[in-house]
Amino acid sequence: VSDALQSIRLNLNGRAIDVAIAADETLLEVLRERLRHTGTKCGCDQGVCGACTVLVDGRPMCACLLLAAGCTDRAVTTIEGISSGRALGPVQQALIDAAGLQCGFCTPGMVLTLTALLEEYPRPSREEVRHALGGNLCRCTGYTKIVDAAMRAAGEQPT
Ligand code: FES
Ligand code: FES
Repeated sequence: VSDALQSIRLNLNGRAIDVAIAADETLLEVLRERLRHTGTKCGCDQGVCGACTVLVDGRPMCACLLLAAGCTDRAVTTIEGISSGRALGPVQQALIDAAGLQCGFCTPGMVLTLTALLEEYPRPSREEVRHALGGNLCRCTGYTKIVDAAMRAAGEQPT
């Protein structure tokens, strides 16, 4: 990481904020280390695990693969922007109700991916949910309950 800093403006969770960054810093580094938005997790730092998933202009992306400078003036949504005050977002609540998490390390990324999916396809099939989660790795759950949660969030009655 170089010492020279530049100021960029991010649209983070609906708020415009200015932050000083080095040119080679990733969005993940800036979120976690400069802005203390530590809900976004760092797993592999190589674009493999999906733990760092955020929404950029509404699309799920790996924050570890994006240069922060390239996100200037783009809309970035992190897990901190998903809940409304003390009310959890619908995917978060469904994950709790369906017991779709264990250690929780993958969960913020799962929530962002599923939120984007349901925004685009409000009534996905289980296969579509599994396909959407292809870039989000979970070591704990076996995925079935995460898919159950997505279907709950989509309004399907639990079986
Ligand atoms: S930390 Fe970014 S994909 Fe694993
Ligand atoms: S709940 Fe532990 S990695 Fe997914």
